[in-house]
Amino acid sequence: MTPRAAVVCGLGSWLPPRAVTNDELARELDTSDDWIRTRTGIGARHILDDGLATSDLAVEAGARALKSASDIAVDAVVLATATPDHPLPATAPRVAARLGLGPVPAFDVAAVCTGFLYGLATAAGFIAAGSADSVLVIGADAFSRILDPADRSTRAIFGDGAGAVVLRAGRPDEPGALGPVRLGSDGSADHLIQVPSGGSRDPLRPATAGQGDPYFRMAGQAVFRHAVESMAESSEQALHDAGWTVKDVDLLVAHQANVRIMHALADWMGLDRERCAIHLDRVGNTSAASVPLALADAVASGTLRPGHRVLMTAFGGGLTWGACTLRWPAVEAY
Ligand code: COA
Repeated sequence: MTPRAAVVCGLGSWLPPRAVTNDELARELDTSDDWIRTRTGIGARHILDDGLATSDLAVEAGARALKSASDIAVDAVVLATATPDHPLPATAPRVAARLGLGPVPAFDVAAVCTGFLYGLATAAGFIAAGSADSVLVIGADAFSRILDPADRSTRAIFGDGAGAVVLRAGRPDEPGALGPVRLGSDGSADHLIQVPSGGSRDPLRPATAGQGDPYFRMAGQAVFRHAVESMAESSEQALHDAGWTVKDVDLLVAHQANVRIMHALADWMGLDRERCAIHLDRVGNTSAASVPLALADAVASGTLRPGHRVLMTAFGGGLTWGACTLRWPAVEAY
């Protein structure tokens, strides 16, 4: 019997309207447009208005992906996020309810910037096992909510946004079918990307107010090196699974963390830099939303067209990483 593959049949994305340029950041922090562009490739990022939360981003992107999938009935919702609306419960059930999807299973996946690929793997597993015929996978993050207002190295990089795909059961040889998602982790390096306080190890309580660190922290240089190695390794595995070589890849959609990381990855793999999808210049690093937002941008610009061979890869806190291939299907992105 042919195994049930997970096939992309819808794509949606959403960015909060408010864009903050490097020059605007430089008015409140000791930084400059030149430093940020040269070291990261980022020119602006979108920031969610006060009073809104990650679920608001996820609902917008999810609704667009469902529209793109001709409002197919979905059997499950997987939300990849590191910035849930609350520590508890998960944000996905609220998103499913607001999208009017009924009592479907809905849960969050926490793999920080690799979250979307972990979400794809989870959804593909549901489909392969026969637990679902179609799944809405959303990557949504509002990092503006967890950044230290005084930390120029993280505020320069991160922005808010959401992207989503709908996966349905299909054949492994049809356009849109995901190859095996190759994932990895290394928890011995979890300190490199962390929100130190506010979890069970160091709860924030009124009695200890002012003592914990509730903000996102990152050891930028160590992460940089690890990112290139882990994305290259998982990409090679994903290409091997698909029976492709680097020359077969029409578009590399890598996690949009730093243009220098993407170029180092392309160089390492022997891939022409021109084949890297670049979206971070306008949105920065949007964590779990990064890969689907870059896909949507590439479709909108005509860079990504039906039949193109796509390699997606990401890395992030955990540490976590992953990669996966697909041949792009004929879907309209919203
Ligand atoms: N503006 C101006 N100077 C800045 C700055 C900013 N926005 N951010 C950092 N700096 C300063 C640092 O404070 C440091 O100053 P010092 O030498 O006086 O201490 C100097 O720039 C060099 O810092 P360094 O960390 O060595 O710079 P870098 O070239 O490695 O770039 C990152 C920093 C964060 C852009 C880079 O390391 C990076 O992108 N790392 C990967 C991070 C990432 O992708 N994270 C996502 C995880 S999913």
